[in-house]
Amino acid sequence: MADFDAIILGAGPGGYVCAIRAAQLGLNVAVVEGRETLGGTCLNVGCIPSKALLNATHQLHEAHENFAKMGLMGPAPTVDWGQMQAYKQDVVNGNTKGIEFLFKKNKITWLKGWGTLPAPGQVKVGDDIHTAKHIVIATGSEPATLPGVTIDEKTVVTSTGALTLPSIPKSMVVIGAGVIGLEMGSVYARLGTKVTVVEYLDAITPGMDGEVAKTFQRILTKQGLTFVLGAAVQKVEGGTVTYKLRKDDSLASLTADVVLLATGRKPYTAGLGLDLLGVEMGPRGTIKTDDHFRTNIAGLYAIGDAIAGPMLAHKAEDEGMAAAEVMAGRSGHVNYGVIPGVIYTTPEVANVGATEEQLKDQGRAYKVGKFPFMGNARAKAVFQADGFVKILADAATDRILGAHIIGPSAGDLIHEVCVAMEFGASAQDLALTCHAHPTYSEAVREAALACGDGAIHA
Ligand code: FAD
Ligand code: NAI
Repeated sequence: MADFDAIILGAGPGGYVCAIRAAQLGLNVAVVEGRETLGGTCLNVGCIPSKALLNATHQLHEAHENFAKMGLMGPAPTVDWGQMQAYKQDVVNGNTKGIEFLFKKNKITWLKGWGTLPAPGQVKVGDDIHTAKHIVIATGSEPATLPGVTIDEKTVVTSTGALTLPSIPKSMVVIGAGVIGLEMGSVYARLGTKVTVVEYLDAITPGMDGEVAKTFQRILTKQGLTFVLGAAVQKVEGGTVTYKLRKDDSLASLTADVVLLATGRKPYTAGLGLDLLGVEMGPRGTIKTDDHFRTNIAGLYAIGDAIAGPMLAHKAEDEGMAAAEVMAGRSGHVNYGVIPGVIYTTPEVANVGATEEQLKDQGRAYKVGKFPFMGNARAKAVFQADGFVKILADAATDRILGAHIIGPSAGDLIHEVCVAMEFGASAQDLALTCHAHPTYSEAVREAALACGDGAIHA
């Protein structure tokens, strides 16, 4: 008989959620994790520490820019970087300990160490071989590097190094205007670092609704970030980044105290023994699975950043839950059409579903309902009226196809649209729903109204 019903490799949001759900469904579960703490990239060196630094520096920005406007006088705070780092670490520790508590509560065994897969149904940790009916690979991802760039995590850093710099640099070049580049770039710009973002494409945040991306770039520029777009980085030597401008092939360079490489992440599966096992792989180092997270090896599943799809904690969590349901003989399912994306800058940026560009490409007839936060009383009160909500609905049926928000609490607002989309709602359904006043969410309702007879406050 197998030692466990299920062994999960990796205790990130994919792995730990899978373990908890599987235990709740009556399976005897173990999780293999090589880090000292649970929670994976997200809790240790990703979502959580970055949001702690974004919160601290947002408060600093408020104190400097907006307190006096509200009659809050007195010297603006100065930064104790050591204390800010300690606060960040406290937030991380509280969360990773929380997962340990949940493991105990759900009687999940933590097999400490790095696991390999010597044979189907087996997981090796150190010298021990454990057996299980179901094995789930939830080993996550690692930063992707560029050819010719050596990371030392001191001068040339990934997000991991950027979260724990020994001091606040005077200048920073960020390579890549994606989510990490803009979140960490914002953190340091608010701390007084001169931040220049070098991006290969001609717009920031590739894949985002074009109108939102333009507004976002304008706002970030006002906040002090500088953008060099259409620039392919050729090499990084020490703090010097050499890039080629795509429009005319000319070479230019920038030198800074710190260079942050934020050009994407890649699945972390090296050393697991997947090739010896004959596990079928997909594009860009992903593990190939079917709709139920099964690999081509019987009893072996994969979820999260290690498989295809957006590299997001909540996507990994949903897959973890669904895979657990499948292992327990139920029908787990993830609706990839309704996975929100959020950038936690100020303002926040959030999206779900199709962009206008995608609908145009599909040749789909759609209508746009837009509402500026300038017409929202609450947003004006917190000096964040510079943004909008945009809802895209089918021209004929009014069914909501996508939503794009740049503004205060966009990352929370997006979820009412997600729920609406899960229920196949029309824009009118949102428009007819009473929204409390004064809330930011009224802007979502107004955008829905704008899909019909018109917004009231615009
Ligand atoms: P991971 O979280 O990467 O966890 C995998 C775990 O497996 C790790 O702990 C690793 O140590 C362990 N492991 C690997 N191999 C083995 C092995 N052989 N044996 C034992 N253990 C192993 N996403 C969001 O949705 N929102 C955000 O705000 C956000 N912010 C981010 C900020 C940064 C700076 C970064 C880098 C990422 C951020 N992400 C965010 C992305 C998010 O962290 C990932 O999508 C998410 O962590 C993926 O979860 P996962 O469970 O697939 O893998
Ligand atoms: P990304 O894919 O979001 O952005 C990478 C950027 O680098 C792209 O704009 C790309 O065009 C650019 N680039 C690539 N090669 C380049 C080159 N040679 N020169 C200049 N620019 C180049 O990747 P990022 O920001 O590293 O994030 C990795 C993952 O982490 C993402 O998939 C994201 O989903 C996740 N993440 C999510 C967060 C959130 O949900 N708030 C926060 C941080 C990370």
